[in-house]
Amino acid sequence: MCGIIGYIGKNNALKVITDGLKQLEYRGYDSAGIAIKNNNEIKIFKSVGKIKELEKKIDYTIQSDIGIGHTRWATHGSVNITNSHPHKVGSITLVHNGIIENYEQLKQELIKKNYQLKSDTDTEIACGYIDYLYQKDKNIITTLNKIKDIFKGSYAFAILVDNDNYLYATRKDSPLIIAKGENENYLASDVPAILKYTNQYYLLDNYEIAILEKDNIKILKDNKEIKKELLTFNYNIETSLKNGYDHFMLKEINEQDKLVESLINIYLQDKKTLLNKMPDFKKYNQIHIVACGSAYHAGLVGKYLIEKYANTKVYVEVASEYRYNKLFFDKKTLVIIISQSGETADSLASLRIAKENKIDTLAIVNVYGSSIAREASKTLYINAGCEIAVATTKAYTLQLLMLSFIALAMGIQKELIDDSSFEDIKKYYTKLPQLMHNEIKRDLKNIAKNIYKKNNIFFIGRGIDYALSLEGSLKLKEISYIHSEAYPAGELKHGTISLIEKNTPVIAIVTDENIYEKTISNIKEVASRGAYVILIISKHLDKDGDFYNEKIVIENTNSLINSLTAIIPLQLLAYNIALLKGCDIDKPRNLAKSVTVE
Ligand code: F6R
Repeated sequence: MCGIIGYIGKNNALKVITDGLKQLEYRGYDSAGIAIKNNNEIKIFKSVGKIKELEKKIDYTIQSDIGIGHTRWATHGSVNITNSHPHKVGSITLVHNGIIENYEQLKQELIKKNYQLKSDTDTEIACGYIDYLYQKDKNIITTLNKIKDIFKGSYAFAILVDNDNYLYATRKDSPLIIAKGENENYLASDVPAILKYTNQYYLLDNYEIAILEKDNIKILKDNKEIKKELLTFNYNIETSLKNGYDHFMLKEINEQDKLVESLINIYLQDKKTLLNKMPDFKKYNQIHIVACGSAYHAGLVGKYLIEKYANTKVYVEVASEYRYNKLFFDKKTLVIIISQSGETADSLASLRIAKENKIDTLAIVNVYGSSIAREASKTLYINAGCEIAVATTKAYTLQLLMLSFIALAMGIQKELIDDSSFEDIKKYYTKLPQLMHNEIKRDLKNIAKNIYKKNNIFFIGRGIDYALSLEGSLKLKEISYIHSEAYPAGELKHGTISLIEKNTPVIAIVTDENIYEKTISNIKEVASRGAYVILIISKHLDKDGDFYNEKIVIENTNSLINSLTAIIPLQLLAYNIALLKGCDIDKPRNLAKSVTVE
């Protein structure tokens, strides 16, 4: 979604901000812009399309030590230069992430005050309204304190005011960090924008106001200066670089074995370490897992694991539905929110609903200090580092790993897994990174070549394999734009099988021995109707047969963690198919990395 960077300091603001915007490209955007101050005059550069289009319009010989930049992912108003940020109205120039929900009402007020608005955006109205208040207040801090009672919705603003030399920022429900350098300071919507320059930052909380000078940062809350803890990013800059890979997605797929190994080393040294890191699950008799997209798919895998290993009922729901559902909480309910970014609007809203109902919450998050991570009763970090490709791979895999730790810990606490079973299971985890590595190195280019021209590709599986199918199908459609559906293998014949014709690709996943025979029968049903079957099967279940065209045999581990090896061929197939189709793999059309609006 939209990205923000602001800069004040010793270097050329235009260059630093352009560079920061390039680091934010991964979030997904359709236009970009920069505003700087030069000899006390605001200069604005905007373009539709990629940052390189913006660069063509900028005169980098212009000297400036202060400015703001933005990548826009259109919400209100189409993609054009007028709607892109920064907006300038009167004395105020700003960029904005979020949505001002009551913009229509504010617009009518501004029209009555003779404000001339040019764009279709809520942001220009917010800018105009801030100017309107500022013209009366003559003090930007007074104005920024007022907007919290006026603007409905969410916002992160980076603001320049005519005739002063400060950079201002404030936020509500849309993330913003204030980063500290040497004789220069920054603000940004997320870490990669400034990781190259500094790793010291403050997290701005809702309604706080930051005032940045090149050698000073002041943060105000309720009009009083507050001291905030200066935090350090623990991300390695390497995690935000491509390091020789053609795409971030491929790099991130390749990182998975090592990341899994380090999380296993942190959580699974022994039983005590695992239990110390986990909440006391004994007090819960039902679990709600709430998330969006791939994180939701991870939750579906988690359901199988927790129900199997901890004999506890789990309901999994998409956050955008959950937040508006009638919810049946009781005191023994635990709500688990899964989110890579920790900022997904619907997941955050669901977390808040659980908290309002006094229900315990547990977050599985990647981004340190994100809203979900900070607001949950307890947070487990998956330590994936920066995930840049819009399509998640490593974060999803680490979410599966964390869910397996939860199932294991819950099983131990509920006395369903004894010491000797724990030790046996641990041995499988020790083997896992090598098995994942073998999968990562598997060459799937030929299989991809056989199917990349197809218009429809189906994924089938049962139980945990169905949950994996959903993720495989999502990966494929989001980056290759091929229509794809995932189906529980047994459900196909209730309608969808009518779409199977000669050579329709069907990717069938079989890792669960308990329903092996049933799934194989379903695969035979599609094979006999001409489907081009690509079978992904665990080694211990593999038998010869005439019901598949391609076969990928994966090394078996344990049902707690089989999904971590089985998902890799699905990620690689999607990647190779998108590559053959020439798609923009890291930045698929219409998508955003962090979905901070409803
Ligand atoms: C798909 C993908 C999305 C995210 C979803 C939730 O590859 O990345 O479906 O999983 O938008 O995002 P987070 O995990 O940040 O809450």
